[in-house]
Amino acid sequence: MIKTVRIGIIGSGGIAHAHVNQYKKLPDVEIVGVADVVPGKAKQFIESQSLENAQPFEDHRKMLEMDLDGVSICTPNVSHHLTTVDALRAGKQVLLEKPMSVTLDEAVDMVQASRESGSMLTIGFQPRYDPNMKLVQDIVQSGKLGKVYYVETGGGRRRGMPGGTFIRKDLAGAGAMADIGCYSLDMALNAMGYPRPLTVSAYTSNHFGTNPLYHNEADRFEVEDFGVALVRFENDLVLQFKISWAMHMDSLGSTIFLGTDGGLKVEPHGTGNWSGVWDGKVGSMTLFHDFMGQQTSTPVPVIEHSKELFFEKVRDFVDAVRDGLPAPIPGEQILIQQAIIDGVLRSADLKREVSIELPY
Ligand SMILES: NC(=O)c1ccc[n+]([C@@H]2O[C@H](COP(=O)([O-])OP(=O)(O)OC[C@H]3O[C@@H](n4cnc5c(N)ncnc54)[C@H](O)[C@@H]3O)[C@@H](O)[C@H]2O)c1
Repeated sequence: MIKTVRIGIIGSGGIAHAHVNQYKKLPDVEIVGVADVVPGKAKQFIESQSLENAQPFEDHRKMLEMDLDGVSICTPNVSHHLTTVDALRAGKQVLLEKPMSVTLDEAVDMVQASRESGSMLTIGFQPRYDPNMKLVQDIVQSGKLGKVYYVETGGGRRRGMPGGTFIRKDLAGAGAMADIGCYSLDMALNAMGYPRPLTVSAYTSNHFGTNPLYHNEADRFEVEDFGVALVRFENDLVLQFKISWAMHMDSLGSTIFLGTDGGLKVEPHGTGNWSGVWDGKVGSMTLFHDFMGQQTSTPVPVIEHSKELFFEKVRDFVDAVRDGLPAPIPGEQILIQQAIIDGVLRSADLKREVSIELPY
């Protein structure tokens, strides 16, 4: 059994700090390497985080030659594929930031590398550690709703557009649909047991991002800031999925599950400029059903908790690495939502419905 878990970080931007801040709380973890393609950035990161035992690298492959147990991959979306495959093939366990990738082919390649190498690939969806997300899943899977035939999910920020690497096609690959859409999809699909998608018809736009009135990098804004999609699944289920980084509206509504015996409404937490998405908190929940012949709605109390979701995700990864446990949020599962995101981008581009072909 591993005593000290030796961790490397690939990509030393914003979210890498969040990873390292959590690793530092774990006494049996040592950060031994940081890699970033920008010359000097890894060294700067090491100094700012006072990581005395860490070596800086510009090429992640050099860092992967070290004796490492696991790596956190914190690069922009487009670089998730190469760095993850290299890390898995080098026999390292991987905690990969969301979204898993940009295309389905990339996700398939990663899962293949994980299978071939026997190294774990887990995707970092911290909202999964919110007990309310588990409650949503438990309600849906309890059978109380009967057969669920329609799910509507998504999230809407009124003015919550990121900049930098997030808006560049060559680095992010996709915009709001992948960046925050992946959280909505994970909540809905995880509750439904990750059903298999068949087709998707989508529309995307970027009226806000490309307008200098709303974005100070409008001339560099290359991805979608809004999108909507209808996804068909096996077993006669459809899902409507809508996302905005910016809009003239307070909310894009609740997540709803419609079943033959009941319905569940889940409200997002807050409607501020950067709120209204499923990236960490649930607002309220209501169950709709008939009782003694009467149409009834029952509030489901939101679970109060003091869990730090980001810490839980990092700790779960470390536990899995140390104890040889399965991936907490397996790449195989998230590949299914990546297939949907891939379908959304293809459909929006072609302006028609497209099929989703899953490899497994
Ligand atoms: N889970 C969350 O709450 C959360 C929050 C923010 C971002 N993210 C995700 O984290 C990822 C990174 O986001 P960020 O905000 O830190 O971006 P960022 O642009 O601040 O940092 C990315 C860093 O990766 C480096 N990089 C790029 N390609 C590389 C490569 N091949 N090898 C090594 N380094 C490389 C860049 O130089 C940069 O320093 C994104 O995929 C994003 O979706 C997750």
